[in-house]
Amino acid sequence: MSELILTGLKKTFEKGTPNAKLALDDLSLKAAPGDFITVLGSNGAGKSTLFNAILGKFRLDRGKIILGGTDITRQKDYQRALNIGCLFQDPMRGTAPHMTIEENLALAYTRKASRSFFAVNRRDSAYFRELLSSLKLGLEDRMGTQMGLLSGGQRQAAALLMATIAEPRLLLLDEHTAALDPGTAEKVLALTRQLVEKKHLTCLMITHNMQAALQMGNRTIVMDRGKIALDISGEARQKLSVADLLQRFHAMSGHDLDDDRILLSQSKQG
Ligand SMILES: Nc1ncnc2c1ncn2[C@@H]1O[C@H](COP(=O)(O)OP(=O)(O)OP(=O)(O)O)[C@@H](O)[C@H]1O
Ligand SMILES: [Mg+2]
Repeated sequence: MSELILTGLKKTFEKGTPNAKLALDDLSLKAAPGDFITVLGSNGAGKSTLFNAILGKFRLDRGKIILGGTDITRQKDYQRALNIGCLFQDPMRGTAPHMTIEENLALAYTRKASRSFFAVNRRDSAYFRELLSSLKLGLEDRMGTQMGLLSGGQRQAAALLMATIAEPRLLLLDEHTAALDPGTAEKVLALTRQLVEKKHLTCLMITHNMQAALQMGNRTIVMDRGKIALDISGEARQKLSVADLLQRFHAMSGHDLDDDRILLSQSKQG
């Protein structure tokens, strides 16, 4: 677990054109080691852009990113990937579909270590089996199955193991349960909570599910037009209901009512 410090992040897409879009507007955030922060915000608020900035997918206009005491602002994305685990909405992303479940786990496991992928031994194999059986999806008996043949939910659960197996300094989850049916989403969320708590990971989780946002983790931020409009933790967060949160959303200028209906129906679904 590591501390994450974002200072004055600014990103304008298509700068200098009529389509210029300020997606991150002087955003600062300090996450303590082991903080599990849920991230809310309407479509286009800049949530995924924030993650991409941390992952090094583009150059910032301005700002500084420090992870675990190291300034990573100028690091390449593949260097950052050694310390940052991530998972997205699309279960196809982030896994190698033509490799087996075991090979995918081995790849994730050995990526950071100086060990070779080919040096994975029987003890590692037993460890992978144990991890998979903790999912309670029967995947421990399908270690030789190609990743691409799993259902979306099974793959997302396996991808979550991959994202956390090398004990990353930071875990980024971008709507990782949005494409799953409500029951499976619930299971993957429970697994998320379990893994993050067990490994004491510093984690940011984007969701449109307000209930999950308040129930998971220890802190919730709401993004609005590239800024953090709300940052709630502790007792204030414990007392906050989904209805209160919706009201706060309303108070944010430029917020569309239609979004609330979607958010509410999604949070009712669980
Ligand atoms: N590569 C890009 N090029 C141009 N504009 C972009 C790019 N990526 C994001 N944007 C713009 O930046 C803004 C923020 O987008 P972002 O994807 O971060 O929103 P979001 O909060 O993740 O929304 P959603 O809830 O819909 O996923 C949007 O206006 C989007 O169109
Ligand atoms: Mg997004």
